Amino acid sequence: MSSNQSQNLLKIPDAGTKIFYQEIKEALQNPLKTLCNLTKKYGGIVQIKIVYKKFMVVESPEYFKYILQDKYKNFPKHDLSGLLTNILGHGLITSNGKTWLQQRRIMQPAFHKTQLEGIMGIIHQEIDKLIDTLKENGAIPIDICKQFMDLNFRIITRMLFGEAEHRELKEISEIMNDLAIEAEKQLTQAIKLPLSIPTPSNIRFKRVRKKFDSLIYSIINNRKIQISRDTPIQPDILQMLLTAGAEDKHDALTDEQIRDELTTLFMAGYETTSQTLGWLFYRVAKHPEIAAAIRAETKEVLADRAIDLHDFAQLTYTTNVIKETMRFYPSVWLMVRKNLAADTLAQHYLPKQSILLLNVYGLHHNEAYWDKPEEFLPDRFDAANLKDQHPFCYVPFGKGPRLCIGEPFAMMLMQIVVSRLVSTFECVPAGDIEVKMEPQITLKPKPGIYIQFNPLV
Ligand code: HEM
Repeated sequence: MSSNQSQNLLKIPDAGTKIFYQEIKEALQNPLKTLCNLTKKYGGIVQIKIVYKKFMVVESPEYFKYILQDKYKNFPKHDLSGLLTNILGHGLITSNGKTWLQQRRIMQPAFHKTQLEGIMGIIHQEIDKLIDTLKENGAIPIDICKQFMDLNFRIITRMLFGEAEHRELKEISEIMNDLAIEAEKQLTQAIKLPLSIPTPSNIRFKRVRKKFDSLIYSIINNRKIQISRDTPIQPDILQMLLTAGAEDKHDALTDEQIRDELTTLFMAGYETTSQTLGWLFYRVAKHPEIAAAIRAETKEVLADRAIDLHDFAQLTYTTNVIKETMRFYPSVWLMVRKNLAADTLAQHYLPKQSILLLNVYGLHHNEAYWDKPEEFLPDRFDAANLKDQHPFCYVPFGKGPRLCIGEPFAMMLMQIVVSRLVSTFECVPAGDIEVKMEPQITLKPKPGIYIQFNPLV
């Protein structure tokens, strides 16, 4: 773009110093509210400065479409804190350009319909175990997010590694937990120093990551030994990654790339899905009429048989409740991009290398696009009510070429969990504990969601 052209364009509204001097404390304490207030005041794009860094906060469906779809190549992903790359390496979530395209092509088959059909059995088996746990627990309120974390952890581990040894499962679970704790500490540090500097927190983080890596590498090596001995193996994602590009050795993935992809699927898949389910049960427990409608629909569509892939299209109310949960509590509440070349957003000049904060939470709660956005109304997702809505108003799984690869799996899993648990239990909230949204890498419920599960007779 020539300087003459850029001079004719509008300047992006600047809320700069206000954020730094007057509102920084509030911004750190309540980023959701701060970002929403900014766009309310300045419009769909506004520039802010936090300490010395400039950011563009974006909150309009047209701009989201431009960034995520029309010009996505000029707006690659940007890892704001560097934390994602430190944990995930260079897997599908953090990579860009040609590397990303190659990885996406390798991973896509793992989420095809036939593969999903193959893991329905695993999902049902693991939900059976959860139902047993909830029944054994009796009337004691239980932190349901933690239960969903365990459930999803077991399902995703089996998807990735097949029937991993029990010892390995337990070990992975413990190390993943430690890694998540250390990652959270890294994220909430007021002053972040590069990992190469041996602060106590950096040392702890690197120690846990090393433990995690060596476990994953030992699983990869064991599998290679099994393959070399022609041991019969059930197809799983590890097998798919090990055989990707096997005809041509140059295209085969290195152990490091396989480690990065496995870690990415783990981290991307289990926290987002568990939290969404947690928030959904928070609403179901508070609103028995929602639970009753889900139960009635499940009974009508399934009678007493087990759910299968063909049933999902008919479970419309249940699906609407899941969609409304993801509107109200979008697990990925912020997406971050950085434009390679200078660009324009609806006549606004965007200098190259601008960091864009795509405010998903704000967009989902913006009254210009949603009627009564602060009310939880599943019926708003009835097809007839969405006729005039811009498709980029609702982006819980992102949009465009970088749309969440796990969306079909996550939707299937959530539909099965919701219809089975709600049909088996009455869900009662534990007292009047106020649950707050805590925006970390994902939107966490704090202090947790405690629910009493009473078996229905
Ligand atoms: C409710 C559950 C989930 C939500 C809300 C969610 C949300 C998202 C969002 C918003 C993105 C796009 C981020 C961006 O463009 O900046 C994304 C990407 C991704 N998700 Fe999910 N996700 C969920 C479940 C899963 C599951 C179950 C898996 C895998 C097992 C998964 C794997 C991925 C991967 C690998 C990407 C990167 C795709 C790419 O860049 O090509 N997600 N997810």
